[in-house]
Amino acid sequence: MKILFVAGDPKPERWTVPIKELLPEAEVYVWDPEGPAVGADYAIVWQPPEALFEREKHLKAVFNLGAGIDGLLKVANLPEALTVVRLEDAGMSVQMAEYVLHQLLEASRGMETYREQQRQSLWKIHRPIKRSEWPVGVMGLGHIGKPVARTLANLDYQVSGWARGEHSLKGVNTFAGPDQLGDFLKATRVLVNTLPLTDETRDIINYELLSQLQPGAVLINVGRGEHLVEDDLLRALDDGTVLRASLDVFRKEPLPEGHPFWQRQEITITPHISARTLRDATLEQITGKIRDHAAGRAISGIVDTDRGY
Ligand code: OXD
Repeated sequence: MKILFVAGDPKPERWTVPIKELLPEAEVYVWDPEGPAVGADYAIVWQPPEALFEREKHLKAVFNLGAGIDGLLKVANLPEALTVVRLEDAGMSVQMAEYVLHQLLEASRGMETYREQQRQSLWKIHRPIKRSEWPVGVMGLGHIGKPVARTLANLDYQVSGWARGEHSLKGVNTFAGPDQLGDFLKATRVLVNTLPLTDETRDIINYELLSQLQPGAVLINVGRGEHLVEDDLLRALDDGTVLRASLDVFRKEPLPEGHPFWQRQEITITPHISARTLRDATLEQITGKIRDHAAGRAISGIVDTDRGY
């Protein structure tokens, strides 16, 4: 079995050595833009070039090194019939839940105020948090969104969830489809985006959507930058529709120097770190699936490429 590793890691051996250990029967290759075809059976990829599919004509499946497969689906010559498999959790959802919780607490517990007080050597106690004032709405109830919603609900926040289809989640008030989006937004002050990026969800977080949130709204975007209409967020911050935003993903990454977001006190920026791909857990999952697929056993995480996730 031949496996081709196609990701822009300057030290690809960090991946290929463990792959060989986990699948001793495999021949493992690193993508060489100038090299010949290797006749790969499987490719493990992150945002691969078109040349991969021009050159490797015998791929049985391609494994994405992340949960979001938008970077792979936009490769124009991705063969329609090719099995595309995404990463399923592999340690990501707990990191995401942690990140979202942290950003939520920054707002709901007024942590910035206490940091400012410390700068002034000021000991001053503010009234305790009322959870009823911080209802959270999680958009996207997949492998990431569900654990995020559950974590916040376990801490007694009022949590709603919205997704394209129906979901049922203990302690979470769920809404489905475009018809129920308005009711979901009305019930939400802190909007958390974990949606996959598809044609339907691109630009979904625009001014019209933000203005339906409860007063003093907070946005936490851990989905994709293309979900958010950036100028609309700036407008919503300017007119007070949105109080603050925590953004981990951007339309252009790295976020360009001189981008207006850098200068905004009300925006917390992190460089796409809310949930890192954990190498050990990721490779264990992917190599296990390669072994199963090669043996003709069913595997989970196969993407519906028409749907986009
Ligand atoms: C992912 C990511 O999609 O890291 O997993 O963005």
